[in-house]
Amino acid sequence: MDVRIESMASDCSATIHVDLRQVIYALSDALDLVGIDDVAHGKRVGIMAAACGRELGLNPAQITALFDLGVLHDIGVSSTTTHSHLVSEFDWESSQNHCDIGYTLLRDFAPLAALAEPVLYHHTRWEKLVQLTDVSREVIEQANLVYLVDRVDALAAPHYAEGVLMYSSEIRAQIVAHAGTYFSPELVDAFLAASATEAFWLQLEPRGIQDIMQEMLEQGSGCQASIGELKQIAEIFSRIVDTKSPFTAVHSLGVSRLARFFAKGMGVSPENCDKLEIAGLLHDLGKLRVPDEVLDKPGRLDERERTIMNAHSFETFQILRHIKGFEEVTQWAACHHEEPDASGYPFHLHSGDLPLEARILRVADIFQAMAQDRPYRPGLSAEAVLEFMNRLVAEGRIEAAIVRVAALDMPGAMAAARPAVNA
Ligand SMILES: [Fe+2]
Ligand SMILES: [Fe+2]
Ligand SMILES: [Fe+2]
Repeated sequence: MDVRIESMASDCSATIHVDLRQVIYALSDALDLVGIDDVAHGKRVGIMAAACGRELGLNPAQITALFDLGVLHDIGVSSTTTHSHLVSEFDWESSQNHCDIGYTLLRDFAPLAALAEPVLYHHTRWEKLVQLTDVSREVIEQANLVYLVDRVDALAAPHYAEGVLMYSSEIRAQIVAHAGTYFSPELVDAFLAASATEAFWLQLEPRGIQDIMQEMLEQGSGCQASIGELKQIAEIFSRIVDTKSPFTAVHSLGVSRLARFFAKGMGVSPENCDKLEIAGLLHDLGKLRVPDEVLDKPGRLDERERTIMNAHSFETFQILRHIKGFEEVTQWAACHHEEPDASGYPFHLHSGDLPLEARILRVADIFQAMAQDRPYRPGLSAEAVLEFMNRLVAEGRIEAAIVRVAALDMPGAMAAARPAVNA
């Protein structure tokens, strides 16, 4: 990432030494989880876009930008249903919606703002793109190249398990058939040149993908993120998770604010308050892999559905654990469903093994879920939330000292739990 912002808004001067590029690539794993059983779409699109960029003679910075664009192009997709339409239909009628969402998420985050416009146009046909007079040539080419390789991946997706190489001629022919209409003839030529080798297709297998991700990461190391940037990127991803389901409108944001509220009351250091806020924003990232019909099921989950749902906190762990400097954030976020008597999941840890911040996050998660409006009922009142929390204290499931912080200022706790969107 060549853009570096030193002093974005932060209410704490402490720093976390984290490489922004590592955060972005790790979080892109969360986007890829929306594919459920096929969890590398964005990465493959990035790899193919970069390979075509090399064929076009672009410079290293432009190739990296194409790679990043590919990795993040589906940042507007959190629904598993939307994802399956996008990979199973060549030109799905509702595809523009996720481009608009992606554009909105990216445009205000300075380090990634340059990707916003190409994301907006990554499902617009070439013949329409060239008529847009207010869009730069570079954006048009980036957007159209991502569209092209994105469609290559959609055509290839059913064949990755058995080996895609056997289908490469067929896929190349399908792309050629859309030259001049969907795709720029020049970009189609670049794709044909890049994809003429076996290596192009074989690198799309899981082992190849991991190696390339590692290489790209090594190129970008040394760029430290500020707390403000980390909070911003975490907030972007929390919005992706929260908008996945009508049940969770501002859940992650509310959990994050509440966790800070409790932590302040418990005397947690300002630096850890910041980290806890980030952990709150990211704690349910793993829910991106939960199919829409399970997450949105109005009634009780059956055993199979419960098993799928309960994997989400371990998925969160898997995504965050690769970020150096995020060790505590990862632990706190991953442990939000652990119970004091070790009956929780995914690690079955006793409360004695859980740091205060993780225990706070768990209380914030439960509190917010009670206070949150649901499609079928408004959120509980302050009195009802407090009564529920006190019942859990009595049952030994959460700590009295943490709930006491809320009891002393219920209006403050409720305001933190139900933030206005854009607040
Ligand atoms: Fe895509
Ligand atoms: Fe959760
Ligand atoms: Fe949660």
